[in-house]
Amino acid sequence: MKTFIRILQFTKSYRAIMILSVIASIIYVLLNSMSIWLIGTMLANVMGGNSLSIVNPTTLNEHLNFFIQNLIGRGQQIDQLKMLCILLTIIFISKNILFYTSNLIMSYVQNNVITDIRVLLFKHISKLSLSFFNNTKTSELSSILIRDISGMRVAFSQSLQKLIVEPISIASFLILLFIIDVRFSILVIIIIPISGFFSYQIGQSIRRKSKRNSIQSAGILNIIKEALSNIKIIKIFNLEDSENKKFKTENKKYFNLIFKKSILSNLLTPINETIGLSVGILLIWFGGISVLENQTMQSDDFIKFILLLFAMLQPIRKLSNVNVVFQNGIAAAERVFSILDNDDKIVQRKNPIHIGDFNSSIKFKEVDFKYAGNENMILDNINLEIKKGQTIAIVGKSGAGKTTLSDLIPRFYDPYSGNIFIDNYDVKDYSLKSLRSLIGIVTQNIILFNDSIKNNIAYGSKNANDEELENALISANLYDLVSNLESGINTIIGENGIKLSGGEKQRLSIARALVKNPQILILDEATASLDSESEKKVHDAIDNVIKDRTVIVIAHRLSTIINADKIIVMDKGRIVEQGNHLELINLDGIYKKLYELQYS
Ligand SMILES: Nc1ncnc2c1ncn2[C@@H]1O[C@H](COP(=O)(O)OP(=O)(O)OP(=O)(O)O)[C@@H](O)[C@H]1O
Ligand SMILES: [Mg+2]
Repeated sequence: MKTFIRILQFTKSYRAIMILSVIASIIYVLLNSMSIWLIGTMLANVMGGNSLSIVNPTTLNEHLNFFIQNLIGRGQQIDQLKMLCILLTIIFISKNILFYTSNLIMSYVQNNVITDIRVLLFKHISKLSLSFFNNTKTSELSSILIRDISGMRVAFSQSLQKLIVEPISIASFLILLFIIDVRFSILVIIIIPISGFFSYQIGQSIRRKSKRNSIQSAGILNIIKEALSNIKIIKIFNLEDSENKKFKTENKKYFNLIFKKSILSNLLTPINETIGLSVGILLIWFGGISVLENQTMQSDDFIKFILLLFAMLQPIRKLSNVNVVFQNGIAAAERVFSILDNDDKIVQRKNPIHIGDFNSSIKFKEVDFKYAGNENMILDNINLEIKKGQTIAIVGKSGAGKTTLSDLIPRFYDPYSGNIFIDNYDVKDYSLKSLRSLIGIVTQNIILFNDSIKNNIAYGSKNANDEELENALISANLYDLVSNLESGINTIIGENGIKLSGGEKQRLSIARALVKNPQILILDEATASLDSESEKKVHDAIDNVIKDRTVIVIAHRLSTIINADKIIVMDKGRIVEQGNHLELINLDGIYKKLYELQYS
């Protein structure tokens, strides 16, 4: 219920037209009831009943009949029949127009609401911190964004309308039943809680199963994603069969879940039908006796009663079927909301400072850091100063914490304790946007989009003109390559740049950083070794990008290291040595060992 109310809150901006739809629905229901009443009257008329001769109506039933009588006139039976036919036609046409209108409005609202929720969810996800992404499978998020949101759409495009119309229908039929005969109507009322009970129980069970379905389908999506992106490894290890088996097993589990749900959801109609029909037959029997033997009931009342009763079974059935779809939708919505409720964001303080220019220095002061859900401190008491215009090289063994340290500057993560200052303000004081505008990153694992070369290097720099792009290509040593391509700068590079070589990808990501022209550059050199020609090209590109900037380079190449203003040596999350190349060689410590191991 809470979830449903929350979904309804998304309909706020559509309230006005929703009210219109509800009004249309109510008139529809009234016309519908009236048409049944008229059909009852017509049947009684044809069969020679004489209820249409009331002069002084006293009961509500008689008043209603008197009203109908005025509508269709008191002439010959054949004339009354003619009038009835005309009235029925008008009523049927109007009620269908209303039905159509109200459905259309609801569908407009529902689809809008779902689109709103999906956009909101995507926006929310994109704002979540990297820790969230470290601990959540992307396939699970895709499954929620696509499958669960569709689930919500299907559920609510069908159910909201019915949830409004059907209860009104039932109520309206019930009132008419009571008007005709109170005793029999009480008998009818017992159907509602019984059928409600079954619907509720089955609905709850369906909701639980729906949730498991979603999780299972995310699992399947995950296998697909991993298999497709790791296809080379699967092939070389000859694991196609085992992957297929894994996939089949997961699908079998999914099938079982879906099928169990079908077993339940298809049970509802027969159960409700049986309950309804048993009561109906009972009523036909006792009602019939009242008419035939005791004459305590008019025959046309009896006909109307039975017609209304069977007419009422329909909305009851619809309502309980809606419950099935509805519970599916609620389960989907709960998953969607669980992401929306995740508040794992990098918090920006109120009234943050805008930093437009970097003027003096970046300082780390007693910074400790550990990853969420991980006991070990990855950074331990880091103190470091980087002055404007300097190039700082960070070196150290794999896993020493170099990438982690650099990730703290643009606030991908916040320190566990200690502070990082830029120009004497804590990075937490700056608006995230202005802080990140200042910084460019060439990541260790190169990240490229399945788009053209042009869009990849101009990513985030929409205003870059052709000359700037060309200069970036030249500086990144990519110009010759691009000019030789048939589509040039508009060549699509494939998923994560699969159509490019390792060195080309590196240079492309350097070109992207060049176009952004950041004041602070973090360059996490890829460790992949390249042939000497490619290496030289990358090196020249790096030299170009480092010029006249403040650079933190996580360096694996000797040339970059030797030319740095300061070298930071990291080991197990700590800074163990710092100084320039010669100083560190003379120190005869870790750096010297690293140097001898790797470069001589
Ligand atoms: N997202 C993460 N969640 C948990 N632990 C992580 C995460 N990323 C890195 N680590 C751990 O933090 C430590 C430091 O990793 P980091 O990537 O900073 O090393 P590095 O010095 O950049 O190594 P390399 O030279 O291999 O790139 C490692 O022990 C690693 O296992
Ligand atoms: Mg690294």
